[in-house]
Amino acid sequence: MSFSRREFVKFMGGTLGATGLAGCFAETQKDSPFLNFSDRDELVLADGFEYDLLISFKDKISDKDQFGANNDYTCPVVLNENELLFWVNHEYPDVLVGSRWEKGVERTKEMVEHERYSVGGSILHLKKGDKWEVVYNSKYNRRLNAETMIPLISERPIVGKTEAQGTFANCAGGLTPWNTFLTCEENYDLFYGEREREDKERSASRLGWEKYFDNPPEHYGWVVEVNPKTGEAKKLTGLGRFSHECATCVRTKDGRVAVYTGDDRNDQFLYKFLSDEKDSLEKGELFVADVKKGQWISLSIEKQPALKKAFKDQTDVLIHCREAGKLLGATPLDRPEDIEIHPETGDVFITLTNNKPRGNFHGSILRLKESGGDHGAMTFKAADFLVGGDDFSCPDNLAFDSKGNLWIATDMSGGAMNKPPYTKFKNNGLFYVAMSGPEAGIVKQIASAPKDAELTGLSFSPDGKTLFMSVQHPGEKSGSLRTLTSHWPKGGDSEPLSSVVQIRGKLL
Ligand code: FEO
Ligand code: CA
Ligand code: CA
Ligand code: CA
Repeated sequence: MSFSRREFVKFMGGTLGATGLAGCFAETQKDSPFLNFSDRDELVLADGFEYDLLISFKDKISDKDQFGANNDYTCPVVLNENELLFWVNHEYPDVLVGSRWEKGVERTKEMVEHERYSVGGSILHLKKGDKWEVVYNSKYNRRLNAETMIPLISERPIVGKTEAQGTFANCAGGLTPWNTFLTCEENYDLFYGEREREDKERSASRLGWEKYFDNPPEHYGWVVEVNPKTGEAKKLTGLGRFSHECATCVRTKDGRVAVYTGDDRNDQFLYKFLSDEKDSLEKGELFVADVKKGQWISLSIEKQPALKKAFKDQTDVLIHCREAGKLLGATPLDRPEDIEIHPETGDVFITLTNNKPRGNFHGSILRLKESGGDHGAMTFKAADFLVGGDDFSCPDNLAFDSKGNLWIATDMSGGAMNKPPYTKFKNNGLFYVAMSGPEAGIVKQIASAPKDAELTGLSFSPDGKTLFMSVQHPGEKSGSLRTLTSHWPKGGDSEPLSSVVQIRGKLL
């Protein structure tokens, strides 16, 4: 099911003052969007907005450390009125500008070591003057990366170990009610490959790290909790292992925590974790969604005879969530990406970015309402909220601002952009959708990304006046350092650098 603009207005129902008027606005606004799709190699902003760089790949954050590659998820935690502890994910290495690898060249151990340092995450101490700035050499500035030893919070050792070396593939994340960061390991198989079972052969990874470091694939694909002040981290295996996009936390009516998390792969599932305790995600129960029936299915081996038959123990189930979910009839989805909870209604919004083998090129945003408005419920109703293909394509990251309006960043892949069926959308963009009032449901473009880049990692400063955003992988389709497709952000002949920007302006 999908909604036209008219149906959307009806769907919004009670939150709208004047439904008839809204219909008129829709026509007017369509002819005068904030910004038109652009293919310039710039971060283009709509009138009334401006941006500054916060930090770029390779910038020094202390005498010892530098900012990592391909920044993605961002998340501020308040230190005091004018200071933040700011988490940034570094999803994957920049093999061109970072480790200087080019096609046809052998991958060396030095390159892999450089890459292992450049991924994971950064904690940055930010201070506000005229704009937000990184406090150089702050005791809080630190890097977690593919070398950091991180305990596995698990009922038993995994591949004989109680800790894993490193975190990587950190895509999106979440914030716990007790203000620790969650960072999600997404496409972990790119780094050390994958295998069906511990005693089976591993597939070769795209980055080939296993050639130099023989780390087990089962140590990756988890959600990692990080203490903002100390950098102390732990892998929460209870939330399952798959290509975690994000981990979005919200309180249940009885005060526990529900964590929504999706598996960003074609035909994979949506999950919900319910904690046992009010202030810890170490223990709890994982569920997978039957979206057609509107039911959460338990992945507890004690409750599911089919799991008991197929898996050794609960840890085995958690390592192989895809297999377990499929066995229990979970609903295959079109690549669940970011998940956000509406601050007033509690509705859960899930981007389904696309599913090309199934002919879904432009994706959609699904809205899920838990029964009784309780995130601890076992049943829900779900329906399309917005569908791509007209105003935007391939929604990925979402954020609600303090007024409850929705911001959407898109991720058409570098190789697909500016070609059919994506031609008209040009470069990736940032969009704004009012959730109430006469303009409810109208999609307005706010920003257009530099060449090949994705806009991602949306977060707001505590006063709501600054939007932090990652500009990830500009120039990623460059064939070599001599044939760069982007020179953002420095321009001229400079090499492209993933960066975090801060945006100010109207609507903020
Ligand atoms: Fe790293 Fe699903 O985006
Ligand atoms: Ca994403
Ligand atoms: Ca994506
Ligand atoms: Ca990305």
